[in-house]
Amino acid sequence: MNQIKIQNLSKDYFDVKALKKININITEGSLFGILGPNGAGKTTLLRTLATLISPDEGTIKINNIDVIKEPRKIRELIGYVAQEIALDKILTGRELLDFQADLYHIDQSNKLERIELLINQLDMQNWIDRKCGTYSGGMKRRIDLAAGLLHLPKVLILDEPTVGLDIESRNIIWGLLNDLKKDGMTIILSSHYLDEIDKLADTVVIINDGKIIDQGNPTQLKNKFGGDRIILKVREFSDSLESEKVKKILEKIDGISQIVINASQGYSLNFIADRDKDLITKLKVELAFSKFKIFSLSQSQPSLDDVYLQATGKTLQDAELYMTGKRDLKKESKQSMR
Ligand SMILES: Nc1ncnc2c1ncn2[C@@H]1O[C@H](COP(=O)(O)OP(=O)(O)O)[C@@H](O)[C@H]1O
Ligand SMILES: [Mg+2]
Repeated sequence: MNQIKIQNLSKDYFDVKALKKININITEGSLFGILGPNGAGKTTLLRTLATLISPDEGTIKINNIDVIKEPRKIRELIGYVAQEIALDKILTGRELLDFQADLYHIDQSNKLERIELLINQLDMQNWIDRKCGTYSGGMKRRIDLAAGLLHLPKVLILDEPTVGLDIESRNIIWGLLNDLKKDGMTIILSSHYLDEIDKLADTVVIINDGKIIDQGNPTQLKNKFGGDRIILKVREFSDSLESEKVKKILEKIDGISQIVINASQGYSLNFIADRDKDLITKLKVELAFSKFKIFSLSQSQPSLDDVYLQATGKTLQDAELYMTGKRDLKKESKQSMR
């Protein structure tokens, strides 16, 4: 059963098309991952779901309730944990949760029990009574997550919940998400970490530049390549002309497909090779025949990054690095206040 239906969703910020006709269905009780680099549109999508921005076009329904027309009802159903954390510095973690619980009008008789449970689930006993101003990034994230869970939402929306976190916090958050899923909660999580999505998500949508590249079960997406991922370099730093020549040679070899030249990694050639023992030998012979040497050749199982690379010609990590520092987040946040 589709609990969440997103249809034809578009959103512009002036001349930036942040979302372009997005269609997504999310099954109740599943963990749905949104994978994409910085600037892909993840936050815009999640904020729209959480009723914090209104789209220019399209509809979203959660449990058949229209998110745009009935935001109040939706807010009772969902918990939203934002990408940036702004906690009060003076309050302790426990005081903050108490205050949040009152904002949510949580029954006084349930309140303390609920807070205690979350403190245990997120392993916060040792520092919950310290002032939030002294917390590490991982501690802040955990408090923030606890705050989003106080009212036991049916749908939990998390925007890059583990970005930049220490391993301990990351593992605790992953563990809790798995437990919440077992209890039937629907979880929607954005990330630019392949391993996070691969490990947690039942279904993933890969987005880039406001558009969906592909969606499905992570294993199915990886398996559709039906071979091994090979990264070949004929020199440490090749160039466009040379890599095009090598590409022509590869194209003629039976069993090699999906060839992409990755300019940001020294014009390496990325392709999928059938799992046939002789293919690499054949490749070496063909390259030698055309007087190319092999500088490096690596072979691995396909990952979700291959789906991304195939569609964009870049790896997710390169796309992430490319965007870092390019965005004027101050200006964006000013604009979103309007
Ligand atoms: N308030 C804003 N004003 C102008 N442009 C914005 C604003 N918020 C986001 N953008 C732009 O929209 C695109 C998508 O951004 P965002 O949804 O934050 O992506 P992600 O969360 O995947 O990094 C980016 O190009 C970003 O620069
Ligand atoms: Mg974001």
